[in-house]
Amino acid sequence: MLDQLNTLEQEALAQLSAITTNDDLVAWQGKYYGTKRSKGALDEAMTLLGKVSKEDRPAFGKRANEVKQGLTAAYEVKKGEVSRLELEAKMRAGAIDVTLPGRPVQRGRLHPSTQNLRNIAKIFAQMGFEVYRSPDVETDEMNFELLNMPPEHPARDMWDTFYTNTPGVILRTHTSPGQIRSMRELGGNGTKPIRVILPGMCYRYEQVTARSEMQFNQVEGIAIGRNITLADLKGVMGEFGRRMFGGDGQIRFRGSYFPFTEPSVEVDVYLGTATPQARMLTKGTGWLEISGAGMVHPTVLENGGYDPREWSGFAFGMGPERVAMRLHNINDIRNFWANDLRFLEQF
Ligand code: DAH
Repeated sequence: MLDQLNTLEQEALAQLSAITTNDDLVAWQGKYYGTKRSKGALDEAMTLLGKVSKEDRPAFGKRANEVKQGLTAAYEVKKGEVSRLELEAKMRAGAIDVTLPGRPVQRGRLHPSTQNLRNIAKIFAQMGFEVYRSPDVETDEMNFELLNMPPEHPARDMWDTFYTNTPGVILRTHTSPGQIRSMRELGGNGTKPIRVILPGMCYRYEQVTARSEMQFNQVEGIAIGRNITLADLKGVMGEFGRRMFGGDGQIRFRGSYFPFTEPSVEVDVYLGTATPQARMLTKGTGWLEISGAGMVHPTVLENGGYDPREWSGFAFGMGPERVAMRLHNINDIRNFWANDLRFLEQF
């Protein structure tokens, strides 16, 4: 009878020592200690007690208890070991190599043209210019007539126009109609000075080439006051040039013609030729053309509600994409609207 107990103990310990998983451990426990549904081998062994002779019974009972306690102790040790093993395995499986470089996160960004317009707006804001919005779909009256170009005026040929099916409604060919709108809406019937820029898309019915698109941005500027002179225009343009490109802020006016300004000029800023950047931007001349400009024509002042004998003002219209092309050495204006990520991701 004692032999049976010893065999049971040896078997149980041998099986226990081979166990490495919690599932096997639970099965082992059920086998020897029983489950809700079945008796365990140890309980079976206890039933032998009834078959043992009276004299041997105390020794058998004592041994049976020893076996049970020994197995319970071994089980507890094993249980600790198994849970440690399983935890280690889990950690190995989910191990993180903290020395690996991170994966780059894809981030959106502003379109280069928007970035450029914001830079320009920021510089003019520093000089007291507010941003004023003016519609892309315009009337012929605003785009031409009120800018001193009546129907059949030959200067209209400077702007190839997209017409709509509605007579008198066009896509603006430049941001200059915003001059009339801002004077009328902000000028208080010719009683208040104004200082605004008008950024926005313009449209021209033109052959698309590397240098000209049929849609592009302009930034119009207009300042109306009681004592504004050409010198103020020079100062503002020079300051803009210096803040945008560096350089010393020197300005060169070349005489030009626009029906809505008198006198009219084209504006170059002096960047010099000292740095490779300045030489690149100016093709070695030191001068970068940035804008058409001039003193607002008396007729245009009147159309905006101002008395030209008391009020004067300057206006300019620059091409921000041209500025950006020079700044970033972009050689094809079509890149701006082609939505090619290889281009856009560089900004
Ligand atoms: N609107 C002109 C153009 O598109 C540019 C321009 C010239 C704007 C002179 C002005 C200006 O405000 O004074 O070619």
